[in-house]
Amino acid sequence: MTIERTLAIIKPDAVAKGVAGQILTRIENASFKVLAAKMLQLAPEQARSFYGVHRNRPFYQSLCAFMTQGPCIAMVLEGENAIQRWRDLMGATDFTKAAPGTIRKDFASSIEANAVHGSDSPASAVVEIAFFFSSLEICPR
Ligand code: CMP
Repeated sequence: MTIERTLAIIKPDAVAKGVAGQILTRIENASFKVLAAKMLQLAPEQARSFYGVHRNRPFYQSLCAFMTQGPCIAMVLEGENAIQRWRDLMGATDFTKAAPGTIRKDFASSIEANAVHGSDSPASAVVEIAFFFSSLEICPR
């Protein structure tokens, strides 16, 4: 059993649609512990930095514009195999390929406006959590 932490983001499209509460309910029903949460609107430079790994992809500029268009909700989730389990709960990046019952299948609007984000590895989780939260903002439970 590996207890992990992962960064989750409810993206601007999902916040704007008013489904953040439904997404949080799915997170809690899946037995994740929410150790930290905050709503914020990313500045352009912050979005470019957070998604820097994609800087050479054709969708990078559009992705950064999308992520700054309104507030998002960043969270630290903890649980057994949290990184993979959160990715499973989110579903495939492209919502048209996401499994039934996943968050993206139910709430995404496009491959870009895909409702939620999750770290893809333990190393990214460490970097992404530190991007949004100081250690004082994370509440062990
Ligand atoms: P996310 O899991 O946050 O990681 C990178 C994001 O880039 C992804 O979700 C989508 O929002 C976006 N993305 C990935 N692939 C594409 C694509 N082909 N076209 C547009 N946006 C994409």
